[in-house]
Amino acid sequence: MVQFTLPKNSTIRTGKTWPKPADAKNVRKFQIYRWNPDDGQNPRVDTYFIDMDKCGPMVLDALIKIKTEIDPTLTFRRSCREGICGSCAMNIDGINTLACIYGLDEIKGDVKIYPLPHMPVIKDLIPDLTHFYAQHASIMPWLETKTNRPAKEWKQSIEDRKKLDGLYECVMCASCSTSCPSYWWNGDRYLGPAALLHAYRWIIDSRDEATGERLDQLEDPFKLYRCHTIMNCAKTCPKGLNPAKAIAEIKKMMVERVV
Ligand code: SF4
Ligand code: FES
Repeated sequence: MVQFTLPKNSTIRTGKTWPKPADAKNVRKFQIYRWNPDDGQNPRVDTYFIDMDKCGPMVLDALIKIKTEIDPTLTFRRSCREGICGSCAMNIDGINTLACIYGLDEIKGDVKIYPLPHMPVIKDLIPDLTHFYAQHASIMPWLETKTNRPAKEWKQSIEDRKKLDGLYECVMCASCSTSCPSYWWNGDRYLGPAALLHAYRWIIDSRDEATGERLDQLEDPFKLYRCHTIMNCAKTCPKGLNPAKAIAEIKKMMVERVV
């Protein structure tokens, strides 16, 4: 797993420490990043204590418990609670992952939770994904066809459908792109692992008829070639996918088509 730590000169200050639950025997400490765009203050880290005998097993269970029972101002995204919607991605114990499928028993000691790294923060644990989604839209994440629409459906053989395994499962959580140093420094022009994994998903879809156009769009010193195979993306993906491999396959196709 890739782990991130705060620099020593971080401007994040120590925030409020909430009281421990009375009469609890199994207490755990949570340190959570807080930032409110409306109070004019630097970010802070608040400390909470939870009675683990009255808490579910996942990190998201603890966040929901804090918001419901201790501090309703704590802000985070979540929806499906089963690793499908991708909305609860955050940095937990130094790892970009999904809070709803990350077990508290996987963390040793205090639980430290921050927003996904190197993204603008909207509030607390919510990153601004506007640019990330725009990059996704730029790779045309849909079936592009030129021949006449079939009467019933676009058919695909079982073998061709299998080529999409390991790609279609992506939930667009952004854990991979925000773990990538190349994306941190060049995210304005480098598309990043998530968008490129989706680009490859459509490039190799046997039903798609815009392969050349898709490759043309990626033939750029930044969009594709800023991937330096650092592999953080594959190590951190909570769905077990390998965006670096998809990017390598696109690079191979670029070479093969000019030979
Ligand atoms: S490849 Fe994995 S880490 Fe990246 S956006 Fe998709 S599910 Fe999230
Ligand atoms: S709440 Fe949907 S992936 Fe976590």
